[in-house]
Amino acid sequence: MIDGKTRICGLFGNPVEHTLSPLIHNTLAARCGLNMVYVPFLVDGAQVKQAVEGARALQLLGVNVTVPHKSAVIPYLTEIDREASLIGAVNTLVPAENGFKGYNTDLPGLYRALVSEGISLSGEEVILLGAGGAARAAAFLCALRGAERVYLLNRSLEKAQAVAEEVNLAAGRQCILPMELSGWRNLPEKKYLVIQGTSVGLAPHTEEAVIEDRDFYRLIHTGFDLVYRPAETRFMRLTGEAGGKACNGLKMLLYQGVEAFELWTGLKVKEEDAAFCYEQMKKELEKNE
Ligand code: ATR
Repeated sequence: MIDGKTRICGLFGNPVEHTLSPLIHNTLAARCGLNMVYVPFLVDGAQVKQAVEGARALQLLGVNVTVPHKSAVIPYLTEIDREASLIGAVNTLVPAENGFKGYNTDLPGLYRALVSEGISLSGEEVILLGAGGAARAAAFLCALRGAERVYLLNRSLEKAQAVAEEVNLAAGRQCILPMELSGWRNLPEKKYLVIQGTSVGLAPHTEEAVIEDRDFYRLIHTGFDLVYRPAETRFMRLTGEAGGKACNGLKMLLYQGVEAFELWTGLKVKEEDAAFCYEQMKKELEKNE
């Protein structure tokens, strides 16, 4: 029941109508017995400052920020977490003295998703496909959480080089190696963790994979696609057919939400509640497939 004590969290983005975040947070709030609701707010690019001030004035319990405002929101924060500052992107605002502190929970979200699949980054050699926003976050994660080396493969080599330079500088070591997409042919023959961070294969283009050559898939022990629509991408199917384990990005989405929820409420979400929430998310996506 919404009443006089109900606290509000929300999402600032544009567009926001297809978001699963209300489902994540409202499910977690119900499971934890909290009087809290989470709603989407359509925020125009010219109104980010006013939206943050409004959130402050209305004493929202917390705010998520999504595309295209993750960097644009930073000037309007009073504090920023170290990792979010390094990445230059914020997806979670937590009330702080005189304003909000910005965090990036996409990184720990991906980390927890990998851990839940039994993957440790420490000492791993990773092949990362893509150099856009999603792949860039994964590159930071690998560099900051101990991956031995990341082969960053992208269609445009210049973009891969720019991301590698930026991430290597932030991590203080040369762990990201930029390459063209075909660069996998020159890599040592062994099994790798491969993170698929391009937008290729996203619905409605579900019959595409960024690399089609089946020989590439023989290099994969685990193929982690950051895409979750469709639930099984062509990249995942090709990975499975070559004998590797395949996962989609839905758990990353779940855990970035769990991390934000924990920051706002001070609670630690139980694994059984996260698992329940994950099942609800899967059901919701199946409805739209
Ligand atoms: P996101 O925020 O989802 O990461 P993005 O920033 O637009 O989206 O990045 C899209 C990524 O998918 C890029 O790495 C892009 O490669 P380029 O940097 O060369 O553009 C990659 N990508 C998109 N379409 C592609 C295609 N048809 N073949 C190969 N890579 C593609």
